[in-house]
Amino acid sequence: MRPSSSGPPCAPLARPLVIGASGLVGGAFHARLAAGGYAVTGTYRANARPGLERFELAGDSPALLERLRPSAVVLASALTHVDYCENHEAETLERNVGQVRPVAAWCSSHGVPLVYFSTDYVFDGAAGPYDEDAPTRPLNVYGRSKLLAEQVVASCPRHVVLRITNVFDIGFDDRNFLHRCVTSLRDGQSLVVPSDQLATPTYATWLADQTVRLVEAGRLLADGSPQRLHASCDDLVSRADFARRVASRLGADPALITLRTTADLHQPAPRPLRAGLRNRRWKALLGVERLPLDEALDDCLPRMRRLYARTL
Ligand SMILES: NC(=O)c1ccc[n+]([C@@H]2O[C@H](COP(=O)([O-])OP(=O)(O)OC[C@H]3O[C@@H](n4cnc5c(N)ncnc54)[C@H](OP(=O)(O)O)[C@@H]3O)[C@@H](O)[C@H]2O)c1
Repeated sequence: MRPSSSGPPCAPLARPLVIGASGLVGGAFHARLAAGGYAVTGTYRANARPGLERFELAGDSPALLERLRPSAVVLASALTHVDYCENHEAETLERNVGQVRPVAAWCSSHGVPLVYFSTDYVFDGAAGPYDEDAPTRPLNVYGRSKLLAEQVVASCPRHVVLRITNVFDIGFDDRNFLHRCVTSLRDGQSLVVPSDQLATPTYATWLADQTVRLVEAGRLLADGSPQRLHASCDDLVSRADFARRVASRLGADPALITLRTTADLHQPAPRPLRAGLRNRRWKALLGVERLPLDEALDDCLPRMRRLYARTL
């Protein structure tokens, strides 16, 4: 999945705003849009990054939106710590649902398209991977908040909800699993992973590139285009399997990967065990037959190697 070298002039991407550009997903979108030559603005909240503007969703969102007048909003900010959410339900609902409302309302009233990211945690994990229309039944507070936010976003006439899962990339710091995986293997530290939580990982670099190309091609955020899509790799894997694939690429010691069952981990939030997303619609839209996890990991490997060698 290579970025297109020169996309056609594209109204939604003329002046996009990425809220949460200091995060894993928002960072990939911000980088892809900047590389594509788009006049993108990105925001951070607590983790300042060069070129990003500070923005707090709890503040006056409409004022920011009025000032910037974006051509599209990529809403990649959320309270994403699943176990913290479980113990802070009111805060989670306020941040993940309440604070989405003014953004969706502004986009609706200004005819501006909104891109929102949801999760396979809207499902109960009894029988994944799931199609877009499968019945939802979140097991935890985070999953419930994301499902409620999907409903808020759906009030916006031009929107797309991209459900994603186990997102990986190198990102900016160790707040993501791949980053932690590489640094633990590098530093000879044991990496404790659940052996029985299955998902279909999403590679953030691909997600951003694929989404931008689909918008450029008028296949997303256009009249009649799909509004709920599952965007991930094909393979249903455990965290342990994922970590082993990383270790083998880096020539690291797989014995550092320590398996635990979810029951043994005593995580505060119940997890959907057999979750994951069936990506058939996404692949059909992209016109590709396969999105293999191994190809995504290979694409990321040069950056994984630099992090492993401490040169990143
Ligand atoms: N990562 C996954 O595996 C995964 C899976 C499924 C769905 N998703 C969804 O994908 C989206 C992006 O996730 P992510 O993993 O990229 O998250 P992340 O790395 O935790 O980044 C979250 C971003 O949101 C910003 N943010 C948080 N609270 C904010 C607030 N009140 N006001 C303004 N900005 C705020 C953060 O800014 P600072 O860091 O600067 O504070 C950061 O830029 C989320 O909606 C998440 O639910 C993620």
